[in-house]
Amino acid sequence: MPIQHILIVDDDQLSRTFLTEAVQALGYRASVARGGDEGLALAQSAHPDLVVTDLRMPGTDGLALVKKLHEALPDLPTVLCTAHGTVEVAVQAIKDGASDFLLKPVSHETLSMVIQRIDRQQRLERENRYLRSAQSESQPEIVAESSSMAETLRSAKKLARSKGTVLISGESGTGKERIAHLIHRESPRAQGPFIRVNCAALSETLLESELFGHERGAFTGAHKLREGRFELADKGTLLLDELGEISPALQAKLLRVLEEEEFERVGGTSTLRVDVRVVATTNRDLALEVKKGTFREDLYYRLHVLPLHLAPLRQRTDDILPLARHFLAHYARLHGMQAPTFTQAAEQQLRRWSWPGNVRELENVVQRAVVLSQGAQVDVPDLVFGRPSQPTALSTSEDLLTATSSLANRLLEDIEREAILATLAGLKGNKTQAAKRLGVSSRTLVNKMKLWRAEGRVA
Ligand SMILES: Nc1ncnc2c1ncn2[C@@H]1O[C@H](COP(=O)(O)OP(=O)(O)OP(=O)(O)O)[C@@H](O)[C@H]1O
Ligand SMILES: [Mg+2]
Repeated sequence: MPIQHILIVDDDQLSRTFLTEAVQALGYRASVARGGDEGLALAQSAHPDLVVTDLRMPGTDGLALVKKLHEALPDLPTVLCTAHGTVEVAVQAIKDGASDFLLKPVSHETLSMVIQRIDRQQRLERENRYLRSAQSESQPEIVAESSSMAETLRSAKKLARSKGTVLISGESGTGKERIAHLIHRESPRAQGPFIRVNCAALSETLLESELFGHERGAFTGAHKLREGRFELADKGTLLLDELGEISPALQAKLLRVLEEEEFERVGGTSTLRVDVRVVATTNRDLALEVKKGTFREDLYYRLHVLPLHLAPLRQRTDDILPLARHFLAHYARLHGMQAPTFTQAAEQQLRRWSWPGNVRELENVVQRAVVLSQGAQVDVPDLVFGRPSQPTALSTSEDLLTATSSLANRLLEDIEREAILATLAGLKGNKTQAAKRLGVSSRTLVNKMKLWRAEGRVA
């Protein structure tokens, strides 16, 4: 769907009016919010296709808004406007999920260009996602060498054939979503939709309307009827991510859909019936939440019919190296490099680390290593784990925290720079193609290069 409706967030009346008129003159529909919090609420209730936000606002500022929107509505593109020309802020905004930034004063031309670029980018992303899902369907790559993971995989495939609700538990980053996807693909409903809702990212009211939909006029901002995820998932699978986070009232509603397969839209009177297979994930111990009284026992038992537990990576060390090699090959391919290998010392390090962030952390470490090693063997210095290995000469834990996060930031930037330079080199300096390959706008790429050149960090 091309961009039609744009939400403008600005605390300043004049720029608000200017932007609204500009957007309307370009043929888009505009909604306005006077601050970050209002913007966040409106973005969730009015369903715009793009958010253009000012940076400096009292309360939730533009950067914070970009971040929150990226968490709650990851598919909604955002653009940050800044009057102060601080490129660093813009770079930070892009890191936090903004699609682009605009320097004030904004002209109609740049505004129009940015919107069109985001339109194009989104179309490409949709196509990519389609291609990727088509590809992963033919070869679902789930690494499971340890006996515990192999067993989990076998159960998952078995469970896939039934219609019962599956509850996948496990620490963050253990692969719950991956397994949920596999269950869908291996089920008789594989041809149907696979719909995901992150229950932790939305407020109670928004989550309710997200799940069950709402009738027109059900609440302020409900301008038109909206189908909920349960409807969209009809004949398919609905993944309820982080289900442990939902409120008691919603727990009760959910129980009813699970038991009777029927529900009403928010503000609606007619009862709808759907045929949906629910897969829920949680990184909490729900049995404990039941004991504490924060999670309904009946819902727990309803969900717990087919439980699957993913062990933390540190308890299935036999998966570490196969996973690391899998990611190494994957990211090397992505960067157009020959897949390097690990040195023995590097392999030892990998096996020894405790992986508090589980498979996701391992994936990140290997992804960085691919860039740092530049195609040579991956050795110990290329492996950058969660914190600096030798925190000497730092007195307080706050010092350590500051040092760690500035190190992480530096590192992220270095990696980013290396990745951009390597890609550019591989494409004979073609910025447009490099930007495309890296999935950023060419403007972002050009701006970053400018910044680094100014700081003398690239030639
Ligand atoms: N067994 C596996 N084989 C290959 N890749 C995996 C495996 N397990 C996890 N991954 C990858 O690790 C990353 C994290 O996995 P996933 O998002 O499924 O974790 P999660 O348990 O849902 O995490 P969270 O609780 O934070 O949502 C993903 O990129 C996923 O593709
Ligand atoms: Mg997940």
